[in-house]
Amino acid sequence: MNIVLMGCPGAGKGTQSAKLQETFGLKHISTGDVLRAEIASGSELGQQIAQIIDKGNLVPDGLMISMLEKIVRHTDQGIIFDGFPRTVAQAQALDEMLQRFERSITCVIMITLPESEVVGRVSLRRQCRQCEEILHVEDPGETRCPKCGGELYTRPDDTPARVKHRLEVYHCETLPVKNYYVNSGKYVEVNGNQTPDQVFKDICNVLEKVK
Ligand code: AP5
Ligand code: MG
Repeated sequence: MNIVLMGCPGAGKGTQSAKLQETFGLKHISTGDVLRAEIASGSELGQQIAQIIDKGNLVPDGLMISMLEKIVRHTDQGIIFDGFPRTVAQAQALDEMLQRFERSITCVIMITLPESEVVGRVSLRRQCRQCEEILHVEDPGETRCPKCGGELYTRPDDTPARVKHRLEVYHCETLPVKNYYVNSGKYVEVNGNQTPDQVFKDICNVLEKVK
């Protein structure tokens, strides 16, 4: 099973991917996480990437596609693609890449969320450096992960101004990807404006039908 998980910033792609990974044993590939890991490595490439993503812009297609291909090449299990494709060129490259690896997309799930919810959600998002858990904190001053005690951090692209810009980029570059998939018969929308458990239930119902 290979799932493409789409949705605007803060829609819940990472949250639902963690649940899918745990329940179905799939490999979770978040291209955002891949880029943040490259930045954390301190490499020269990472420094160039930081300048792009901290502003909320997309990294160039060619670079993103080749980074993804290196991971897919070494993955045997089914995959959740979180945050990829983000442009029509990436969607075309993914089809071509999966065909080469004798795989195909099982379904494309769009998690929908009203834009009015986005800034509120991501401004209270924290991620744990240790266990990588994505959290919604009640207290913005919270610094320790309630699960493992690791250090919590706020993403540099989660300020209200950058989130607004990421939403603009999403409209221009990523929404056309929806049209790319709509006629494939594999495209399904799930309401992301419910509790995480209810969203997950709806995703499982979708997967039950396509498996
Ligand atoms: P990326 O990391 O993919 O960011 P994004 O798409 O903007 O999405 P987010 O990670 O912000 O949100 P999410 O949908 O995962 O929500 P989450 O589950 O965390 O990409 C970052 C950047 O990298 C891009 O801007 C770009 O620069 C670059 N990039 C990445 N991929 C690229 C590509 N393919 N090509 C080029 N550039 C690329 O949830 C958010 C918050 O809400 C959390 O606090 C969570 O606890 C909470 N929450 C989740 N679900 C619910 C719910 N149902 N109810 C209430 N709260 C909830
Ligand atoms: Mg995410």
